[in-house]
Amino acid sequence: MTSQQQPSHPSVSQQSSRQTIIAGNWKMFGTAESTRAFAEEMVRDPHLAHASGNGVGVVICPPTPLLHVLRPFCGTFFELGGQDCHQNVNGAFTGDVSAGMLVDAGCRYVIVGHSERRRYHHETDDVVAQKTRAALAAGLTPIVCVGETLEERQAEQTADVVLRQLDAVLQAVSPDQHVVLAYEPVWAIGTGLAATVEQAGEVHQILRKFYRQRVSNDITILYGGSVNATNAKELLAHSDIDGALVGGASLESRSFLAIVEATGV
Ligand code: PGA
Repeated sequence: MTSQQQPSHPSVSQQSSRQTIIAGNWKMFGTAESTRAFAEEMVRDPHLAHASGNGVGVVICPPTPLLHVLRPFCGTFFELGGQDCHQNVNGAFTGDVSAGMLVDAGCRYVIVGHSERRRYHHETDDVVAQKTRAALAAGLTPIVCVGETLEERQAEQTADVVLRQLDAVLQAVSPDQHVVLAYEPVWAIGTGLAATVEQAGEVHQILRKFYRQRVSNDITILYGGSVNATNAKELLAHSDIDGALVGGASLESRSFLAIVEATGV
């Protein structure tokens, strides 16, 4: 059954076109020792098993060299994701990893188009679209990030920017391919200044409407940008916010687990 034939029930089924997902993006943090300790705390948490068993997708995206440390723990309580993949299957691209390599390392997800990749690695909308396609071809679920800078928000260009970024991706994938979207306003990432529920909800609605018009289906849309144990509950209560992509607060198992708990599942 394709996702198009499925009813839209957030947080109920992996098959559904919408799912509650809490994903942790560790960026370039962590050691083998801290990662092992994190995993042991995660699997000891009774609530995590309950949430995962009831349809919440819990995903950890560590730096690539730490995937193997988490791998023995993943599958039951949480899934693994990469933080980026190259758009090519293989080749002379020093320092890059392909989507297929992430699959080999145990990943089911990969973040693409994070604003730090767009900014520091000069990734264009087109490159992000190619990476999304490569991830899907390898069997990964891409978590595609979109978001405006502070200047763009102040110039009232938010909708234009996020829809341009989404449109580029939709042109590269077919309607039945499963993509997760993350709205991450650049000004909210790592600043401690999360978007308000109203600000995030408004952009999620714009993205959802556009996606529904283009694909005649629904999509999981996560919010990212300074999500923490304190603000998660309010953000996740919004009917258009399906989950969270969490940076800083995903580094400590306690704060990450509190965000999983804030799903209310
Ligand atoms: P933050 O990062 O939660 O530390 O703001 C989010 C992200 O970059 O995905």
